[in-house]
Amino acid sequence: MTKVDVLLGLQWGDEGKGKIVDVLTPKYDIIARFQGGPNAGHTLEFNNIKHVLHTIPSGIFRPNALNIIGNGVVIDPVIFRKELNDLKKFDLDCSETLLVSKKAHLILPTHRLLDAASEADKGKTKIGSTLKGIGPTYMDKTGRNGLRVGDIFSANFKELYNNLVDKHKRILSFYDFDYDLSSLEPDFFDAIEVLKQVKTIDSVHEVNKAIKENKKVLAEGAQGSLLDIDFGTYPFVTSSNTTCAGACTGLGVAPNRIGEVIGIFKAYCTRVGSGPFPTELFDETGEKLRANGHEFGATTGRPRRCGWLDLPALKYAIQLNGVTQLCMTKADVLDTFDEIKVCVAYDTEEGRTDLLPYDINEDKVKPVYKSFKGWETSLEEADNYDTLPQELKDYISYLEKEIECPIVYISVGPNRKQTLIRE
Ligand code: GTP
Repeated sequence: MTKVDVLLGLQWGDEGKGKIVDVLTPKYDIIARFQGGPNAGHTLEFNNIKHVLHTIPSGIFRPNALNIIGNGVVIDPVIFRKELNDLKKFDLDCSETLLVSKKAHLILPTHRLLDAASEADKGKTKIGSTLKGIGPTYMDKTGRNGLRVGDIFSANFKELYNNLVDKHKRILSFYDFDYDLSSLEPDFFDAIEVLKQVKTIDSVHEVNKAIKENKKVLAEGAQGSLLDIDFGTYPFVTSSNTTCAGACTGLGVAPNRIGEVIGIFKAYCTRVGSGPFPTELFDETGEKLRANGHEFGATTGRPRRCGWLDLPALKYAIQLNGVTQLCMTKADVLDTFDEIKVCVAYDTEEGRTDLLPYDINEDKVKPVYKSFKGWETSLEEADNYDTLPQELKDYISYLEKEIECPIVYISVGPNRKQTLIRE
């Protein structure tokens, strides 16, 4: 029996998971998404074309890989249909390679409306939702109201839909919020017909059968560990468990069936939307990180907040997930910096600590930095760890010593080929 490997982000998302899953997929028979929904934007770049996937796993471009959307995912049929259509433009037929769990929950048009109404109502305290309806859908899941993919085959689906929408309308009436549901519904029901054509499964049976047959499965995380509903910077988090435990509940895999846990982090830090970010830079260095790293959201186009790497936060995420292998992405973004900083601890009212405090708001923690000399060399053509600039190797060695986990993959560009693997 094999085990399920898990790949996930260790920061606030956008670590470059899509690219790394794409690099690793030749080793796997199955790629499975286990949480989140179309708030993810996994970018893959090859043959000079950029592809952004939201709900569909990043293994979809590999001819022999099976792609599973697990029970922990929430699906917007309209966005899902668009993703399928975009893939068709590249002559990609997913009819045999894409499987959707019947237990995955559906995002209804009213979930998106509720998301928008709630966010507008919060005013200045808004959490920076992607407004994709993810939060309200998970609320209906835990509130035991939700509709699942399996329901679309039921003869009374329309009735189930209307019952839930009536509840949503009652909630919407509490907000000062105008909406036109009738303009959204025809598209939704059209997209439901498309979803009906896709193969549906129970991911519990499918994944466990696969590991019994010694197939290799990779669980692909979305967002990042610091956005986890339980362990992230609450309430500025996403609505699912983005950490390794989410792979168990979001696919139906027992904890002792988890194998390697591959944690992805950027050589610096970014965050989209609101919420604490101790190492955020508001100066020209932050601007330079944003410009060099093209730090604008793949889903929303929003500029990402940028700052230095935060080691206490990274160590916390590594511990939470039981990471066994690390991947550092976007090292090339630091190519032109003469000085690189890393936050090694925080100064708090209680003294200095290298543990992530309960409250990491900027008035509560002040980052303590260690400086490194930049390599000031282009990594664009780097194809071997041994020939990397010594300054970068020193940076990597320091991180490995501090976080006690090997950095096995180093990504030096958006292309598949720009990935160095240390065996
Ligand atoms: P979420 O699950 O939404 O958090 O997405 P993600 O982790 O897959 O990240 P996303 O693809 O949104 O963002 C990463 C961006 O960085 C994409 O545009 C990638 O093409 C790009 N990228 C990935 N690795 C590298 C790298 O090593 N260097 C550079 N310069 N760009 C990279």
